[in-house]
Amino acid sequence: MCGIVGYTGYRRAQPILLNSLKKLEYRGYDSAGVAIIDKEMVIHKDKGEIAVLVEHLPKIEGSVGIAHTRWATHGKPSQINAHPFTDCKKMIALIHNGIVENYLDIKEKLLEEGHEFKSDTDTEVVVHLLEKYYEGDLEKAMLKTLKEIEGSYAFVAISAEEKGKIVVARKESPLILGKGNDENFIASDIPALLKETNRITNLHDGEVATITPKSIRVVDMEGNEISKEWKTITWNVEDAERGGYEHFMLKEIYEAPSTIHNTILGRMSALDLGPPLGDDFSAIKMVACGTSYYAAMAGKYILEEIAGIPTTVELASEYRYSSRAHERPLTILISQSGETLDTLGAAREAKQRGCPLLAITNYMGSSLARTVGENRVFYTRAGIEIGVAATKTFVAQLIALYLIALQLAQERHTKNSDEIRRMLDEMRTLPRVAWKVLGMGPEIRELAEKYHDVKDAFILGRGLNYPIALEGALKLKEISYIHAEGFAAGELKHGPLALMSEEAVVLAVAVQDHTYKKILGNIREVNARGSPVIGIGYEGDDNLRKFVDDLILIPKVSNIFSAIPVVLAFQLFAYHVAKERGCEIDKPRHLAKTVTVE
Ligand code: F6R
Repeated sequence: MCGIVGYTGYRRAQPILLNSLKKLEYRGYDSAGVAIIDKEMVIHKDKGEIAVLVEHLPKIEGSVGIAHTRWATHGKPSQINAHPFTDCKKMIALIHNGIVENYLDIKEKLLEEGHEFKSDTDTEVVVHLLEKYYEGDLEKAMLKTLKEIEGSYAFVAISAEEKGKIVVARKESPLILGKGNDENFIASDIPALLKETNRITNLHDGEVATITPKSIRVVDMEGNEISKEWKTITWNVEDAERGGYEHFMLKEIYEAPSTIHNTILGRMSALDLGPPLGDDFSAIKMVACGTSYYAAMAGKYILEEIAGIPTTVELASEYRYSSRAHERPLTILISQSGETLDTLGAAREAKQRGCPLLAITNYMGSSLARTVGENRVFYTRAGIEIGVAATKTFVAQLIALYLIALQLAQERHTKNSDEIRRMLDEMRTLPRVAWKVLGMGPEIRELAEKYHDVKDAFILGRGLNYPIALEGALKLKEISYIHAEGFAAGELKHGPLALMSEEAVVLAVAVQDHTYKKILGNIREVNARGSPVIGIGYEGDDNLRKFVDDLILIPKVSNIFSAIPVVLAFQLFAYHVAKERGCEIDKPRHLAKTVTVE
C-alpha cells in the first residue's frame, strides 16, 4: 500500500501535490518523493515522512507532476528506494503502488540491454521498460510495457518530452481520476482530491488513462477507448479517509480479502514459496504478544499439521526471562508493528541463545526486521492498520503462517507436491471466502443488537479454533469492554462451567472437523446452565441449528483454513457489539496501538 497523486493543469503543481499527498500518509510513510516537469524533469525524494520531503524541497515551477508516499514491500525504506524512479536518460518518471512479481526476470534482460539501475525495488524495471518502448507517445509505451508485467499495480508516469501529460494504468491497486476546470488530477484515494474536486471516477483493472489539463482519455489494454461514468462525491474529508466506513476498524475488517491477496501475491508461483528456511532445527518456537500471540498459537496447529514440526508458543514477556533451553528451535517472532518492546527483547534473547530466527511483521525496516536481518523476514503486506484493535493484520499473519508451513512441508517432504498445490489452490480462494463472511455483516449486526448488553461472553473452540476463540474474546474485551473469555471447549467442565448463566452469551465454533461431536456436547453443557449459544458452523450444517439459539454460517473450507472465516465473523461481531454499546471503537480506553514499553 502506497499513496499516489498527480496533477496537470495551469497552477503550480508542487503545493497541490504536497497537500494531496499528506492526505494519503495513512497509506505509507517510510519515504516520499515528487517529480515535476519544469524546463526539465525535476525529482526530489527523501527517506521518512512527507514532512521530511517538504522541509528539503526547493520551490519548483511547473504545472504537471506526480508524487508518492511509500509503504515498502521490495527494497528497504531509503532515499534510493523512494519513488519516483527515472529511466537512464532522466526523461521519464514513474511511481507505483503494488508489486511487480516478475521483476527479477525483467531486470536481468534490461541489464543485458544496458539499462542502469539505482534501487533494489521491483518498480524500477517498469520505468526502464517505458524507456525501451518510448517513441514519443507515453500511452503507447505504457500499453507495451504492461504486456510484460505480472503482478498488481497502479502506475503513474510522466515524460519530459510530452509536457502536460500523465499516463496511468491500474490492476488490483486503487487509482481514481478527478476532473477540474482546465486541470485534472489522479490519486490512490478520494481524501487526496476532495480539496480540489469532487468529480471522480475509478479506474478499473486493465484500464489505462491519459490525462492532460483539458482531456481524460481511458483505453483498455488493446488501446480501445472506454467511456467512464463520473460521480460527485458528497463525503467530507474525514469520511473519505475512512473510505466511507464509520470507523477505521470496520474499513480494516473489510480489507481482509485484499490483504489475503496481497500477502499471497508472488509467493506461490510454481511452488517457489520463498528462500529456504533451512534444516538446522528440529523444532519451532513462536514468540509474540497480544493478537500476534494468538496468531502464533494458531500457527502451532498450522505448522504441526502441515509441516509436521513440533512447535511451542511463548508470550514474549515470558520468553525474555525464561530459563535458557538447551535446544535451538527455529524461533519465529510475530509482531505487526515490529516495534513491540517485549517481542524485540525476545528476538535479542533468541539471537543470544543462538537460535535460527524468522520474523513475521507488517513493517519493512522495523526494529524487529533489523534485529533478525531483512533476509529472515516474512512481510505481511497488510498496509497500515489505524484501528487500535488488530484485524486485517491478524488475518495476514495467519496467511503468512500457512505459507511458511507449506514451504517447510515442501522442504522436508512432509506433504507431496500434489497436496501442497491443492492447498495453495485453496488459499487462492480465501479472498472470496472472506468476502462471503463480510457479506453477512447485517446478520451479525442483528446478533450484536440482541446480545450487546450481556454481562459476560464466553467463546469456545477446539483445535485450531481454540486460539481463534481467544482472539475473538480479546476483540470483544478491548473494544466493547464486555468481560469476554475464550476457552478450549474441553476445559469447560474443569472450572469455567461455574460461570455460565443467563446473563452470559456463548459463541461456540462448531466446524465439522474431528472435534465436531465433542463441541456439540460442550454446547449442550452450557445450554443446560441457561446460557444462550451462538453457533459458528459451516453452511449447510442443519444439524447444528438443533443445538444453538442463533447461528452464523460461514462458507465451507478445508478445516485447516477455517480460522480465516471464523475470525472474520468474530471481528464483525465484536465491532457491532461495541457500536451498540456506544464505545470509542478506533481508540479503546487505556490501549495503544504499539506497546514500546515493558
Ligand atoms: C489487539 C492488539 C494487541 C497487539 C499486541 C502486539 O488487538 O492489537 O494485542 O496484537 O500489542 O502488537 P504487535 O503485533 O505490533 O507486536
